[in-house]
Amino acid sequence: MTEDVVVTNALTKRFGELVAVSSLDLKISRGVVYGLIGPNGSGKTTAIKVMNGLLRATSGSARLLDEEVPVRGVIHRIGYMPQEMAIYTDLTVHENLELFAGMYSMSRGNFEGAEKDLLEMIDLAERRDSLVATLSGGMKHRVSLACALVHDPELVFLDEPTVGVDPELRKGFWDYFAELKSAGKTVVLTTHYMDEAVRCDIVGMMRLGEMIAEGTPESLMKAAGTTTLEDAFLANAKEGSV
Ligand SMILES: Nc1ncnc2c1ncn2[C@@H]1O[C@H](COP(=O)(O)OP(=O)(O)OP(=O)(O)O)[C@@H](O)[C@H]1O
Ligand SMILES: [Mg+2]
Repeated sequence: MTEDVVVTNALTKRFGELVAVSSLDLKISRGVVYGLIGPNGSGKTTAIKVMNGLLRATSGSARLLDEEVPVRGVIHRIGYMPQEMAIYTDLTVHENLELFAGMYSMSRGNFEGAEKDLLEMIDLAERRDSLVATLSGGMKHRVSLACALVHDPELVFLDEPTVGVDPELRKGFWDYFAELKSAGKTVVLTTHYMDEAVRCDIVGMMRLGEMIAEGTPESLMKAAGTTTLEDAFLANAKEGSV
């Protein structure tokens, strides 16, 4: 039996009159790479934030790893990479990783191993002692990803993890996500790249705060009678419009 590590029930977030996330019912199984796609402003970031308790939902509820959000007991088993930069530019790459590891009370031995692997994955081993302020935009982004993963979370939310990252490294990131998946970890990410969306096990298509379609990339394309996910999205968006 598959275990659902993310479950939301009619999860809704309003900003005044605006319904940024509308009655979201979601179930994400362990060991899955789940991709949220949709245009700018469709509610992907807000959905991730209410799902993991960083924003209080207006109504509805969410459970992560079998604990009601906002979680306390399982917080160290969850990772989050925000869309906006959330690392310290006046610290080095190493100091940032150490800081995040410290927040999760990692042991020194575990941290050293994790740091080595992650620096390799983000291809910044030689910049370990550079101040983050001196790195390029894409490099900062890579450090931010490593910080979200340093404590070896079993469920990780990555909001546009590959934006601004060069194609070769993007491929490296996806190989790493596949490794996480085969280690039984669950990855929930957002992306605007359709070549990435097709690599997800399950894709959720959002539009105007609503989940308009969800399924494997193949099933979504088949149901829409299209050969690309982009066209499948457009077909679903059209169907939903009045
Ligand atoms: N703090 C806030 N206050 C008011 N409105 C907000 C706030 N955060 C988001 N919104 C609005 O909620 C809607 C959804 O925004 P959100 O950031 O979730 O979209 P997104 O799908 O992540 O977009 P993008 O692809 O650009 O990252 C937008 O209309 C946005 O303007
Ligand atoms: Mg966003």
